[in-house]
Amino acid sequence: MSVKRIETSEKDLARQREIMERVAEMNASLAAPPLALVDTYGCQQNEADSEKLRGMLRTMGYELTADEYAADVIVINTCAVREHAEQRVLGNVGALTHTKRAKPSQIICLCGCMMQEPGMAERIKSSYSHVRVVFGPHELWRFPEFLLSQLNGGKRIFETSPSDGCVTEGLPSARDSSVKAWLPVMYGCNNFCSYCIVPYVRGRERSRRAGDVLREAKELAAAGYRDITLLGQNVNSYGKDLDEGVDFSDLIAEINDIPGDFVIRFMTSHPKDACEKLFSTMAKCEKCARHIHLPFQSGSNRVLSAMNRRYTREDYLELIRTARRLMPDVVITSDVIVGFPGETEEEFEETLSLVEEVRFDALFTFIFSPRRGTPAASMPDPFTREEKQRRFDRLIELQNSVSEEKHRSYVGSVQRVLIDGAEGEYLTSRTSGGRLVRLKADGEKIGSFQNVRITGSNTWALYGEII
Ligand code: SAM
Ligand code: SF4
Ligand code: F3S
Repeated sequence: MSVKRIETSEKDLARQREIMERVAEMNASLAAPPLALVDTYGCQQNEADSEKLRGMLRTMGYELTADEYAADVIVINTCAVREHAEQRVLGNVGALTHTKRAKPSQIICLCGCMMQEPGMAERIKSSYSHVRVVFGPHELWRFPEFLLSQLNGGKRIFETSPSDGCVTEGLPSARDSSVKAWLPVMYGCNNFCSYCIVPYVRGRERSRRAGDVLREAKELAAAGYRDITLLGQNVNSYGKDLDEGVDFSDLIAEINDIPGDFVIRFMTSHPKDACEKLFSTMAKCEKCARHIHLPFQSGSNRVLSAMNRRYTREDYLELIRTARRLMPDVVITSDVIVGFPGETEEEFEETLSLVEEVRFDALFTFIFSPRRGTPAASMPDPFTREEKQRRFDRLIELQNSVSEEKHRSYVGSVQRVLIDGAEGEYLTSRTSGGRLVRLKADGEKIGSFQNVRITGSNTWALYGEII
């Protein structure tokens, strides 16, 4: 589908850059650098956005803190995908009345997908008077302007007008890790799955120009990042809105040609846009991880149709066969929803049978959460929460036994892993397929690839030693 592209103009960006310089000058005259905290809910897109917020804050002279009482600026980047995420956000925002009381100059900002929901800005305006700034994902690049206005004692800001979204290049990013980097390649979603709020809050699909993606990928490789994850809500429809003749497979192949020792990952792929070309490109690109995250959502054709997923169970199983034919060792993970409105016991059994047939390496399981404004929220839903929970528990039990068996089959094998961090007494690392391997080794090895022998396993992780 072709959409009208809106790119943030160089003039508008220059204005934000100039504001960042002004704020940096103001902050440089303080006795100590002011502190900022950015808290993130939701998916990797939000993580990537938060890294941009931190990048802008750092450019404006802020140091980052995890202490909400010490912070001069707090930004909460919110998620709207399920009700539970929203409840957590609202609870935590409510609790910030204490920090604001202890430090009245504190500037509290809310942004992200939840703020873009109809009625949410009004709700924050009337019930959370300690929040000074509210903006949706489309206005993220204007954050310096919002912050300066508050520093100058301006009025509360609410910037959440509906928008198809834009593409903004050149914002600074303060990345969380020096090993793994997010690389958004497209924004928004056109799929309108009937349960999902994302297309309403994140706007239409729009791809970054291939030249911009490649430039950033080269910078990341040159800076020593070892794991580059290409991001998009529907990442494999990359390029369809551009006139550059580059599709997602072509983009992977071009990134694969960048010199350096790094892994290319990507998420999330939609089955309707997955094809043999994608899998054969993955197979021939030595840097591309042997992992595909391919959400199936339901094993029942009736439910898939009601979800507006635009593929059948048979299409999905055929894709899995193709992926495994071209990459016998590929790790396959997925998302699934239990308790979609009207899903019967028999339809749920079809989800179980698909899980048994595919034998996913890992599964992200969700109970349907009605999202206001989506078609599924007004569909009749005769099944109780308890029934849905029982089904959910059965599904988890089945998947846990598959994951446990799959993990056990790694024991004794040698895997090339990237050591990416530390967790308690272990270093953490990932196989090419993205499986977690815990190791005991010297912290200096973080950021390096190592060959490890797998010595143990459980449902969630592998254990190994460097050889
Ligand atoms: N774009 C990706 C896709 O199509 O799979 C991911 C979108 S969403 C951020 C991640 C997962 O949340 C979805 O795959 C779906 O399983 C789940 N999800 C989305 N809306 C939901 C809802 N209303 N209730 C329960 N789960 C939901
Ligand atoms: Fe939501 Fe579907 Fe788009 Fe994924 S593809 S973000 S589930 S509408
Ligand atoms: Fe949540 Fe927005 Fe991501 S709704 S899952 S943070 S795109």
